Amino acid sequence: MCGIVGYVGKKEAAPILLDGLRRLEYRGYDSAGISIIENGKIVTVKATGKVVELQNKIGEKKMASKIGIAHTRWATHGKPCDKNSHPHTDCKGNISIVHNGIIENYLELKDQLQKKGHKFTSETDSEVVAHLIEEFSQKPASTRGDDRSSTRGGLDFRGAVLESLKLIKGTYGLAILDRNCPEQMIVARLGSPLLLGVGKDEFIVASDASAIVQYTDKVVYLEDGEMAVVSADNFEVFNVKNKLIKKEISKLDWDIEQAQKNGYAHFMLKETFEQPESIANAMRGRISKTDGMARLGGLRDVEEKLKDINRIIIVSCGTSYNAGLIGEYMLEEYAGIPVEVEYASEFRYRKPLLDKRTAVIAISQSGETADTLAAIREAKNKGALTLGIINTVGSTIARETDAGIYNHAGPEIGVASTKAFTSQLTILTLLTVFLGRQRDMSLVTGKRILSELEKIPKHINEILSGDKEIKKIAKKYANFSDFLYMGRKYNFPIALEGALKIKEISYVHAEGYASGEMKHGPIALIDENFPSLFVAPRDSVYEKNISGMQEIKARSGKIIAIATKGDKEISKHASDVIYIPKTLEMLTPLLAVIPLQLLAYYVGISKGYDVDKPRNLAKSVTVE
Ligand code: F6R
Repeated sequence: MCGIVGYVGKKEAAPILLDGLRRLEYRGYDSAGISIIENGKIVTVKATGKVVELQNKIGEKKMASKIGIAHTRWATHGKPCDKNSHPHTDCKGNISIVHNGIIENYLELKDQLQKKGHKFTSETDSEVVAHLIEEFSQKPASTRGDDRSSTRGGLDFRGAVLESLKLIKGTYGLAILDRNCPEQMIVARLGSPLLLGVGKDEFIVASDASAIVQYTDKVVYLEDGEMAVVSADNFEVFNVKNKLIKKEISKLDWDIEQAQKNGYAHFMLKETFEQPESIANAMRGRISKTDGMARLGGLRDVEEKLKDINRIIIVSCGTSYNAGLIGEYMLEEYAGIPVEVEYASEFRYRKPLLDKRTAVIAISQSGETADTLAAIREAKNKGALTLGIINTVGSTIARETDAGIYNHAGPEIGVASTKAFTSQLTILTLLTVFLGRQRDMSLVTGKRILSELEKIPKHINEILSGDKEIKKIAKKYANFSDFLYMGRKYNFPIALEGALKIKEISYVHAEGYASGEMKHGPIALIDENFPSLFVAPRDSVYEKNISGMQEIKARSGKIIAIATKGDKEISKHASDVIYIPKTLEMLTPLLAVIPLQLLAYYVGISKGYDVDKPRNLAKSVTVE
């Protein structure tokens, strides 16, 4: 989604803000803007398009200031254009704000403010915040207790922000400047992430650690309902009741190198090639071979409760949802616990039946996805045990779940999820062993799964070494406009994931389908111009997949197959085959997905698309 960055300190703010925006661009990028306070005035520059457009527009302008806020936008209310870009200002240009989230009652507030004479210049929901603050700053002092400004006769900066926040319904991450308080920035959050990076005589505020990590590894995580008043040498955090809150300073676990491309053409390619290492990191220290058990420190406090769990619900979105589906197959087959997997966006609006013996597991790379967070809150309210499988340390879902397991995949910057997905599958495998061994799983089975899991990084290296072959296949198929991706059992979710990847990166229409379902509709689409991709390793459903392939072939459909190394039979049915090493059936998704990530990548780049920043998409979906 949108990205926020703010700076107050002893250095020039504009270069730091622009650098932060570039690093946040992967979150959303239809327009960008910046405000600073220069010679007692708020100066704002906005541009439609990528951050480089903003940089060009700023050009030689000095923008000399030690304080400022900036934003990359992913449009929700109002089309992408300069006037709808952030920052937004009040009527007089005294207040400037950047906002992530959605102000649900903005029409009502806008109407009230317009009746009081406020003039709006954008179609956004966010602009009301600037006018609300203006309105409270102008209120007669007599109506507003002690918190008043002698110059404006209304509330002071903090008081005006606080009163404004009380009227807002919806979600926000906000950074605000007031030209009358040129040394202070106010930031606030409700349902939209915001971190305060603590440097030496400086603070960098951002919606995402990637804009902070190059300046400091010390951060303060703001909680919902908190507001911070920040100046170069101090910060104070208040809650909505204006009570001062003591905050802890935490350490970020990212480093700057992880957030760079390291010679790869794109983050997506780098992250695809990082998977042997990210999977090894997800396992590190968590495998106990002698007792065939997974050691999951993050679950220690709930270990006893987990013995009593008789049902699991997994809530997640997109790629993380596809990982959850594979978890369902693993957990039911090996841990013997009934599992349901739900789109978090649906779960939150149902009346889910939950009790103390239900564990609700959120899977999320960012740990900030609004729907997944809402689903976890709903589950908590209903008394379920909540767990997280999260990549981003310190993220909201990680903090709000009762317990959890971090992926340790490092920052994932490419919008299309790759290494986070395989690290989620690794954690789900460890969780399956952990819960299975708490129940009926034998020592032999536990040991076998873990020792096969340990071989996965080596197997992935082998698949990655065939990258050139996959690139050739991608070129051959790059001009087809439709695909059917199919798989069965453990690899049905891989068909969904492969189709999702090619859709989002290459803008190719692709449908993921359970191969057994093909005859019930999609086969009608098949002809020589509609290729299929079958994920068909040598597993318990291999023969079924072969039958499906024959049916496609009989209708002149071209087939790409993902098959187990050494399988000679498959080339009789498929036009092109990509081989993966042999592993346990439950672990084949960890291997089968790699060629599908590469196929999507190479089709995307052969069409000249910016695969790290696909159109209309954002990395972390922090609005509904
Ligand atoms: C697809 C993709 C998205 C995310 C989804 C959930 O490549 O990245 O579908 O998987 O938006 O995001 P997280 O995992 O951050 O909750």
